[in-house]
Amino acid sequence: MTPSLGELYLASDSDPAPIVEFLRELAAGYELPQPLHVLDVGCGPGRLLGPLERLRWQVTAMEPNADFLASARAAAGSSRRVTVLRGGFQDVDQDEEFDLVIGVNSSFAHLLLPAERADALRRVHDALRPGGVVFLDLPNFLWILKNFRAPEPYTFQAQGESVTLHRRHEIDFHAATIITTDDYVFARSGKAETQLVHAYGITTLPELRYHLDELGFDDIRTFDGYDSRAGERLTGPRMLLAARKPA
Ligand SMILES: C[S@@+](CC[C@H](N)C(=O)[O-])C[C@H]1O[C@@H](n2cnc3c(N)ncnc32)[C@H](O)[C@@H]1O
Repeated sequence: MTPSLGELYLASDSDPAPIVEFLRELAAGYELPQPLHVLDVGCGPGRLLGPLERLRWQVTAMEPNADFLASARAAAGSSRRVTVLRGGFQDVDQDEEFDLVIGVNSSFAHLLLPAERADALRRVHDALRPGGVVFLDLPNFLWILKNFRAPEPYTFQAQGESVTLHRRHEIDFHAATIITTDDYVFARSGKAETQLVHAYGITTLPELRYHLDELGFDDIRTFDGYDSRAGERLTGPRMLLAARKPA
């Protein structure tokens, strides 16, 4: 049987352990209460749900893509501490429920317009308890565009099958978006049987800081990657940032 999109994502993406350790330390650094309630927006197939639950955190996850949502629901199983909801940043409407809201591995980059990003951050702000923290992990497109090289095909095993991911990017210079097409080619047929097309909005740290400042967030911290701990200047392909809703 052809692996699902969730299985392909889980088989091709990196180990989530460094992300979970980073989040644990981020929560400690901001002195968030424990055990905390986290909202994982754009959770994909739910690779963080089990590890976050094992921190004894209460986990609510949201995912708009139906295939990923099904995988995330399967990953959550019958755990009483994990809830999976359909939707994306534009659907966040909880009121002061969460200590931490996260968008890991580019989920926030799916918002294409500055107005959509501003609206999403307002929703996140309202969903956070006073003193709560938002954390976003995004591509740093300024770095990526300066250093752009077409990605090489990447072969991996999924459900016992050899699969090659062919990824290509098109840049819309007018709309400031990048359209990424992922073709998963299966060795047994030599054909792309699964394709995922996603558009990313090109945003910058100054734009996001502007929205966060307007909403009253404070203590904004930036990180170059999951290995970094101190608030750092951005110098590489990722843009990680956290900010606190004042208590
Ligand atoms: C690269 S995946 C990352 C998944 C997961 N956060 C992880 O780290 O494994 C990006 C996810 O963002 C989701 N997404 C798409 N549009 C979104 C939106 N408007 N709001 C939140 N997430 C969105 C996609 O469906 C996809 O699951």
